[in-house]
Amino acid sequence: MTIKGVPGIGKSSIARELAQYFIKRPHHFKDGVLYLDIKNCDQIVDVMSCMYNIIDPDSKRLKLRKEDKDEMLKELTRRYYNKKEVLIIMDNADLVINTDYPNFRILISKLLVNCNKLKIVVTSQKIVGGGL
Ligand SMILES: Nc1ncnc2c1ncn2[C@@H]1O[C@H](COP(=O)(O)OP(=O)(O)OP(=O)(O)O)[C@@H](O)[C@H]1O
Ligand SMILES: [Mg+2]
Repeated sequence: MTIKGVPGIGKSSIARELAQYFIKRPHHFKDGVLYLDIKNCDQIVDVMSCMYNIIDPDSKRLKLRKEDKDEMLKELTRRYYNKKEVLIIMDNADLVINTDYPNFRILISKLLVNCNKLKIVVTSQKIVGGGL
């Protein structure tokens, strides 16, 4: 799901409320809620680094290389999110949508296709597009 709207309309406020709501009601997403502020991410490897750094404390400050992205995506779908009931909120996706749009769509689609219990909320000033 995309929460789309003009700058300052309150998308991030809704996204944070949503995260709080589901954190307090863990029966909806029993494997967790991930809130990621991705406003400084201009490539999907940066988005994936954020995901790793939250789910795996040993990978703190991990900065993925561009050439690792396919392997990392497989790893995320296989090891972390497959069959898991998780909500991922990607807040402020404007930069990555502007600079790495096709790959961002691929990232979201592959996560959703390979992890059928995963739900993703994206906030941005533009829609992700193409049914996403
Ligand atoms: N329902 C609301 N009522 C009053 N103020 C609000 C409400 N929602 C958000 N605000 C205020 O509006 C400002 C912008 O909100 P927010 O950061 O959520 O917008 P945004 O849509 O995410 O902006 P951007 O497109 O820049 O990411 C914040 O200062 C926030 O506190
Ligand atoms: Mg915002």
